[in-house]
Amino acid sequence: MLRYFTAGESHGEALVAFLSGLPSGIKVDQSFVDRDLWRRQQGYGRGGRMKIERDSAHIISGVRNGATIGSPVAILLENKDWKNWQEALPVAAGDPAKHKRVASPRPGHADLAGALKYNFPEARYVLERASARESAARVAIGAVAKLFLRELGIEILSHVTRVGNAALQTAVTWEAISGLYPADEILLNCVDENAEQAMKEEVDRVLKTGDSVGGVFEVVAHNVPPGLGTYAQWDERLDALLAGAVMSLQAVKAVEIGDGVSAAASAGSTVHDEIGYETPGRFAGFTRSRNHAGGIEGGVSNGEDIRVRGYLKPISTLRRPLQSVDFETREPVKAAYERSDVCVVPAAGIAAESMVALTLARCALEKFGGDSMLETRRNFEGYLEQLKNY
Ligand SMILES: Cc1cc2nc3c(=O)[nH]c(=O)nc-3n(C[C@H](O)[C@H](O)[C@H](O)COP(=O)(O)O)c2cc1C
Repeated sequence: MLRYFTAGESHGEALVAFLSGLPSGIKVDQSFVDRDLWRRQQGYGRGGRMKIERDSAHIISGVRNGATIGSPVAILLENKDWKNWQEALPVAAGDPAKHKRVASPRPGHADLAGALKYNFPEARYVLERASARESAARVAIGAVAKLFLRELGIEILSHVTRVGNAALQTAVTWEAISGLYPADEILLNCVDENAEQAMKEEVDRVLKTGDSVGGVFEVVAHNVPPGLGTYAQWDERLDALLAGAVMSLQAVKAVEIGDGVSAAASAGSTVHDEIGYETPGRFAGFTRSRNHAGGIEGGVSNGEDIRVRGYLKPISTLRRPLQSVDFETREPVKAAYERSDVCVVPAAGIAAESMVALTLARCALEKFGGDSMLETRRNFEGYLEQLKNY
C-alpha cells in the first residue's frame, strides 16, 4: 500500500517527506523532482521568501543508482531561512527572550483555532506547521509518484482558470496545458495570454491596496486508463479520494470534479457525455463527445482525462490587517502581519498535481500491484490487452 507523511516546520531546519510502498525499478530523475519544487515556488504575487529559498530534494533513502529499490523513500528539503530562526525556534529550551510571538491571530489562518487546540499562549508554533511551506514536501514525493505514473503512460499537470474576477473563458486542451511546462518563467500559469494579463491586473490591484486574492486551478491527469477507483465502497471512490487529497491543501476551500459546479444548474441532456465507439481506440474503443464528467463516473476512472479543480480562498495574512484581539491582553488590535504571499493560485495548482499523483499512484498500485516495475508493468499491460479485447 502506498503511504506518505510529511514533517517539518516553516522556519525549522528542514522538511522531510516519506513515501512508502512503491515498487522497485522506477527511474528517479532528480532534476524532474527539483523542477516541480521550483514550479511550486513560482507565480506572480508570491512573497519575499521565494527569493531566498530555492528548494532542492535531498533524497536520503529508497533510491539507489537512479532507481527506487522498494524500500521507503525519504526526502529532505533544507529550509534556507533556518539560520535566521535558530535562536527563535531552538529544539532545546533556548532563551525565551529570543522567541518570536505571533501576538494576535489572523482571521482565516489557523492561528486561533490551533492555539486553542494545542493550548499555546500565542500562535507561533501553529503557523509554523499550518503554513503551506509544508506543501513543498508533498511536491517532492508527488514528483516521485509522477515518475511512477509516467512508467504507465500517465501524465499530470495543472493550469490556472481564475484569479479573483479574471477568468479563463476558453476550453483547454491537454496540449495547451503541457505547453506551459517548459516555460522558464511562470506568471500565473494560464494557457491564454490575455486572460493571464487580466489575472495579473487582479494581483496588481491587491498589491496596491494591501489585500490578497484567491482563484481556481485545474489539475488534469492525462492517459489514465478506465478502472481506477471503485463504486464498491464509499471510501474507495476515486472522486472522493481526489476531493479529499486536493482539499487537504492549505487555502483550498472547494473541489470540483469535471464541470460538477455548473452541472448542478444544467439539464442532464447538456451535462452527460454521450458515448460512441471507434476502433482502434485509446483503451477499449469507446469514445466521448465531451468530458463534463472530468474522467470519473461512479467513482471509477472512465478513460477520459481526469479534471480536478481547486478553489482557493484569498490569503489570510494581509498587509492591511483585519481586526483581531491580542492573545495576552484580549484588547482589540490589528491581526499580526508577517511577510506573505498575496496570490498563490499557480503554486497551489502544482501542489495539487502532487496530491492527484499520489492518489492515482495509490489506486494504480491497488489495481495492478507488483513489487518491481517489471511485475507492475506486466500486470498493467495485461489489463490494457484485456481492455483492447473487450
Ligand atoms: C502555495 C501556498 C502558499 C501560501 N502562502 C501563504 C502566505 O504566504 N500567507 C498566508 O497567510 N497564507 C498562505 N497560504 C494559505 C495558508 O497556508 C492557509 O490559509 C492556512 O494554513 C489556513 O488553512 P486553511 O486556509 O486551509 O483553512 C498559502 C497556501 C498555499 C497553497
